[in-house]
Amino acid sequence: MNEETLQVLGLAPLAVHPQFQRQGIGSALIKAGLEIAEAKKEAIVIVLGHPQFYTRFGFQPAVVYEIESPFPVPEEFFMVKPLQSYQEIYQGKVVYPSTFDGV
Ligand SMILES: CC(C)(COP(=O)(O)OP(=O)(O)OC[C@H]1O[C@@H](n2cnc3c(N)ncnc32)[C@H](O)[C@@H]1OP(=O)(O)O)[C@@H](O)C(=O)NCCC(=O)NCCS
Repeated sequence: MNEETLQVLGLAPLAVHPQFQRQGIGSALIKAGLEIAEAKKEAIVIVLGHPQFYTRFGFQPAVVYEIESPFPVPEEFFMVKPLQSYQEIYQGKVVYPSTFDGV
């Protein structure tokens, strides 16, 4: 079996100060980030977060694409958004940079 490591984008961390939440700031940041990723011909964006929030931007459970979470979370919380450059080779277990250890 051929194994290869492919670099992809992760959307994190994302936070809006409680005083400014529910005014569209988080959504605007996500949309802008996805547009930049698309313009840079990135293939896929990964996010760990609330399905109700992220599905509205086109994120789907990663398992749908045979992409596996490195975290022991219910599968609907680990999501991906495939971009125009997505191909089926983007499968397997996600490895985060060590910066995320202990976050
Ligand atoms: C998630 C977060 C970034 C959203 O930012 P925001 O500027 O409030 O987002 P928006 O105003 O664009 O969108 C608000 C929508 O998000 C949803 N939402 C916001 N906070 C939420 C929360 N804590 N739980 C579930 N849904 C939430 C609301 O349902 C709202 O939907 P509506 O417009 O239909 O009412 C912000 O709530 C936050 O910083 N939360 C704490 C940190 C966090 O959980 N980060 C996500 C890590 S993946």
